[in-house]
Amino acid sequence: MFQPNKRPLYLAPMAGFTDPPFRALCHEGGADVVVAEMVSSKAVVRRNPKTLGMLRSYPGERPVIWQIFGCDGFELADAAAYIESLGESDGIDINMGCPMPKITGPGSGAALMKDVESTRRKLEQVVRAVKLPVSAKMRSGWDSRSIVAPDMAQAAADAGCQHVCVHGRTSKQLYQGQSDLEVIARVKEASPIPVIGNGDISTPEDALRMLRETGCDGVGIARGALGNPWIFSRIKRFFETGELAPEPTWMEKVAGAARHFTRAWNFHQRDENAYRGLKGHLVKYFTGHPGSADLRRGVGSVTCNEEMELLILGAAGGNRIMEATLELPGLTERARSSAAQAAGSDHPR
Ligand SMILES: Cc1cc2nc3c(=O)[nH]c(=O)nc-3n(C[C@H](O)[C@H](O)[C@H](O)COP(=O)(O)O)c2cc1C
Repeated sequence: MFQPNKRPLYLAPMAGFTDPPFRALCHEGGADVVVAEMVSSKAVVRRNPKTLGMLRSYPGERPVIWQIFGCDGFELADAAAYIESLGESDGIDINMGCPMPKITGPGSGAALMKDVESTRRKLEQVVRAVKLPVSAKMRSGWDSRSIVAPDMAQAAADAGCQHVCVHGRTSKQLYQGQSDLEVIARVKEASPIPVIGNGDISTPEDALRMLRETGCDGVGIARGALGNPWIFSRIKRFFETGELAPEPTWMEKVAGAARHFTRAWNFHQRDENAYRGLKGHLVKYFTGHPGSADLRRGVGSVTCNEEMELLILGAAGGNRIMEATLELPGLTERARSSAAQAAGSDHPR
C-alpha cells in the first residue's frame, strides 16, 4: 500500500472524529490513506456490539487502516485477525501514542513506548497473525527523558511492520509545545521502513516544512483536516506545482458542511443520534469567519434533521443555486421557505 516517492498524505486517526463519512470525505479531498479512530482490541475480541459497529466502512473510503489499542500481544493479534477477516481493511495500525490515563493506565497507547523490547514482541505477534500490512503510530517517547521513537521505529521494522507514523510530542506533553521535527528527523535516519511525520500541519507550507526538515516519507494530518477535508488536495497541488491554492470560500465551506451532513445522515440511516458525532465536525466548518460564532452555537443546539437543514441553508443565505448543490437529504418545505426568507440576510460569507 505504501508507495514511496509519492509522499502519501495520511488522515491521522482521531477518536470521535475519523468516522466513515469523514474518512470518505477526506479521500475525496485528496488523502491517500485514511486511518480509522482507535478501537479496543479487548472489545473486538469480546465482539462488543458497539465496537463491531465501529468497524463498518463507507463506500469510497479505501484504502483505510484500522487502528487498535491494547497491551496484550495475544489480544492485539486476535483483534487484528478478526478485523482482517471482515475484509474491509487495508492495514492494521497499533496505537502507541494515546496519552489518556484510562488507556495508558493498563499499559496501552503511549505506555507501549516505555519498553521497546516488550513492544517489539507484541508487534511481532500482530504481524504474524495477519497478512495485511501492520504499522505503528507512536509519540516521540513517554517523557522528555525517554525519547525512544528512533529505537522504537527500528524495533517496529524488526517486528515486520511496514511503516511508522510519529507524532513529535511525548505522551507527557499531551498537546503542549510543538511537534518536534528534530526527533522525527532522527526517527527517519534510524528507520529502515517509511516514516510518516505528524503534528501541527494545518497548511501546505507546514506539510512542506515537515518533509524538508525531517526527510520523512509522507505526512499525517489530524486536527488540520477537521472542517477542512480539502487540505489534502491543497497540499498535493503545492507539492506538485508549488502553487498555493486559495483557501475555500465561505460558500465552499457551507457546501462542505452540507455534504458532510448528508453523508453522515445517510450513513447513520437517518438516525438523529448521528448528531452526536456530527456536531463536533460541523462547528469546525463554521470557524474563523466574522459572525460565525452564532452558527457554531446553532449547531450545538440542533435537535433534528430539519433544524440542521435550516441552519445550513441559513448559512448559505438561502441562495437557490446553493440549495441545488447542497443536496440536503429530504429538504422539507419549511426549510425551503425559511431558506428563501433568509436570502439577503446578513449571514457571514
Ligand atoms: C480529538 C483527537 C483524537 C485523537 N485520537 C487518536 C486516536 O484514536 N489514535 C491515535 O493514534 N491518535 C489520535 N490522536 C492523535 C492524532 O492522530 C495526531 O497524532 C495528533 O493530533 C497530532 O497531529 P495534528 O497536529 O495533525 O492534530 C487524536 C487527536 C485528537 C485531537
